[in-house]
Amino acid sequence: MIVLKTGRELKIMREACRISAGALKIAGEAVEPGVTTAEIDEIAEKYILKEGGVPNFKNYQGYPATACISINNEVIHGIPSKRRVIKAGDIVSIDLGAKFDGYNGDNAATFACGEISDEAKRLIDTTRESLYKGIAAAVVGGRIGDIGHAVQTYAEERGFSVVREFVGHGVGTELHESPEVPNFGTKGRGIRLMPGMTIAIEPMINSGKQNVKIMPDGWTVLTTDGSLSAHFEHTIAITPDGPQILTKV
Ligand code: MF3
Ligand code: CO
Repeated sequence: MIVLKTGRELKIMREACRISAGALKIAGEAVEPGVTTAEIDEIAEKYILKEGGVPNFKNYQGYPATACISINNEVIHGIPSKRRVIKAGDIVSIDLGAKFDGYNGDNAATFACGEISDEAKRLIDTTRESLYKGIAAAVVGGRIGDIGHAVQTYAEERGFSVVREFVGHGVGTELHESPEVPNFGTKGRGIRLMPGMTIAIEPMINSGKQNVKIMPDGWTVLTTDGSLSAHFEHTIAITPDGPQILTKV
């Protein structure tokens, strides 16, 4: 079931998303050579709590941290660790969210640590832009397939590939609600987009092949071919005036 949000609910979601976006910003600013992923997780958690939110990934299906921090060939769901030290040249995907007054925000971005390769830069720029192409397609009267089509076309035209096993989603009182929002698809297919829908669009784009595998920790998703992967996500509202990004800083 797809829950359409009222104006009152959107107001609360805006606050949850403001906290989520602020936490992502300071977490990204903390990415530096020598920093551990556990330290970044702690910075994000403290910020969310200080702002009156609750880290909504923590304990979600048993997930043990505030943020997912995934480096280089790690696609998503990397578990923060005191033993995982970020080094210059790494690309670091941070995904996190906050719950506020019963509603969820969810967002992600990939950050560069120091100087990175031109290929890594191009992957990050393409993934960020593919998210914006997807957002631009999230208009009343459109369909869910329009979003995935926009993301996929943009990423594949640049020689990159789209992860299929993980998708975007509705967001609201639950972190993951209907509908699923794939990053691939066909224009004009899928459910119709309606005012009051709140969704997270979150392309995961690989520099090599699209295939992924899960590590023995049961969480960390890796590219099968060892290629780099980037991830960007915004929570947005579909409104009569067009898509509104709720997780904007
Ligand atoms: N990264 C997921 C999303 O953006 C949510 C993470 S669930 C967790 O939808 F359990 F890994 F935290
Ligand atoms: Co999400």
